Amino acid sequence: MKEKLSKLGINSTTPSAVNQLTTEFAEDFREGTDINLGVGYVNDKTIPADAILQAFQHIIKQPEKYRNALNYGGSEGSPNLRRSIKNYYLKYAIGELSQSDFEDRRIVIGANGATSLLDSLSDLFEPGIVITADPFYYIFTETLERKGYEILPIAEDNRGIIITELEKAIESVDIEKISFFYIVTVNNPSTVILSNDRRKAIVKLAQKLSEKTGKIIPVIFDKAYEDIIHNPAIPNPVSGIKYDKLEQVYEIGTLSKIIAPALRIGYAICPDKNIAKILIQRTSDIGFSAPLINQEISSWLLDNYIEKQKVKVNKGYQEKSTFIKKLFKEHLSEYIESYSGGDAAFYFYITLKNIPTDRDSDFFKFLSRTTETPEIDGVKEKNPRLVYIPGTICSKEPQARYQLRISYGFEENEVFVRAVKLIAEACRYSIQK
Ligand SMILES: Cc1ncc(COP(=O)(O)O)c(C=O)c1O
Repeated sequence: MKEKLSKLGINSTTPSAVNQLTTEFAEDFREGTDINLGVGYVNDKTIPADAILQAFQHIIKQPEKYRNALNYGGSEGSPNLRRSIKNYYLKYAIGELSQSDFEDRRIVIGANGATSLLDSLSDLFEPGIVITADPFYYIFTETLERKGYEILPIAEDNRGIIITELEKAIESVDIEKISFFYIVTVNNPSTVILSNDRRKAIVKLAQKLSEKTGKIIPVIFDKAYEDIIHNPAIPNPVSGIKYDKLEQVYEIGTLSKIIAPALRIGYAICPDKNIAKILIQRTSDIGFSAPLINQEISSWLLDNYIEKQKVKVNKGYQEKSTFIKKLFKEHLSEYIESYSGGDAAFYFYITLKNIPTDRDSDFFKFLSRTTETPEIDGVKEKNPRLVYIPGTICSKEPQARYQLRISYGFEENEVFVRAVKLIAEACRYSIQK
C-alpha cells in the first residue's frame, strides 16, 4: 500500500542531484584527507563567536529592551531586528536606499534564513515560468521545479543576465504564464555581479510585462552575497527598489554570509501589501518566527559590531581569492578556458578546455576515486577525494558540460594548494583517457 502523496511529495521522493552528491560524500568524509569544495559553507574563521557571546550577555541583561528573548517571537520578526536592518541600510547607504524607500515597505524576517522566505514565496504564486540567469542557483530552481514551475534560464555575461537574450526569450513564451523573475544579484554559482544598468533594465521590463498582462509580475532580487563584494574597485550596487514603480520588487537578504549561517536570519524588504502579509502568515505556519534569541543577537551585532565584521570578512575572502588565482595560474592555466569569480562571495566558476566535468566524466571519477583503477582510487584506502559542483547541475548551456563551481569559503589556503594540484591531475587523467 502507498500513501496518497501531493505533487510536491511525489516530486520530492528522489533526492536532488546536489543533495545526492553531498550526502554520498558526507557519509565517509575524512577530515584532513578529503577536500570539500562543493559546499556553500562560509569560512569558520569569519564567524564572530566572541561577539555573539557578548551580544547574548547584553541581551539577557537588558530584558526591558530585548523582551522575552528566549521565548516565542512574533511572526513578522523582532522589532529590534527590523529596526537594526533598516538602520544598517541607511547608515551604510546600502543599495542607496533612503528613509523614504522604507516608508511604504516592510521588513519581514523569515522563519529559517533566506531559504525559508524563498520557499514561502514559491508557495504564493500560481506555478508558471520563472525567469532567472544561467547559470542558476540550483538549490532554489530545483525546489521550484518540484513545485511545478518551469525555469527559463537566460545566459549571462560578466555584467549579469544579458538583456537582449532576455527580451528574445520573453518573445518566445506566453507572457501570461510568467510567474516571477528570480534574480541573484551576485550570482551563485558564477559570482557575476549584476550591473546597475541591468538591474534597472530588468525592473523596467517586468513593469512593461505587468502593464501588458494587467497583473503584477514580481521581481525577486536575491542579494545573499551583496554584503561580501570584497573587491573594493566594484561600484556599490543600487537596489532594484530604486526603480520600482508598480510595487513589484522584492529584495531578499541574509545575515548568513556576513555574520553566521547558523543564526538562520534572512529578511525580505517588500511592498507593504498582500504578499508581505502572506509571507508573515507562512512564517507563522512554518515555525511561529525565527528563534527570537538569534534575532536579538543579530540586532545587537548590526547595531554594535557590523562595521568591524564587514572589514574582517571581506579582507579575508579577498586575500583568499588572490591566493587561489595565483594557484590557478601556476597549475591550471593550460586546462582552463575561462573562469568567473574572485571579486565577491567565495566561488569560482570554471570552464575547462574540452574536459567534461559531469558525474559520468573521467574528471569526476578521478576526483571521487571511482575510476575502478586501484592506482588511482587507492589500494587499501581511498586516495584523497575532492568534491565540486558540476556545471550540468546549475546550467542548461552547452558548455555546462565542461564547467564546475568550486567554493573557497570553507577550506583553508593550505588545503587549496593540494586541491588545485589534484584538479590538475584530474585534468591530465581526463585528457589521457
Ligand atoms: C543565492 C542564495 N540565496 C540564498 C541562500 C540561503 O541563505 P540562508 O542561509 O539565509 O538561507 C544562499 C546560500 O548559499 C544562496 O547562495
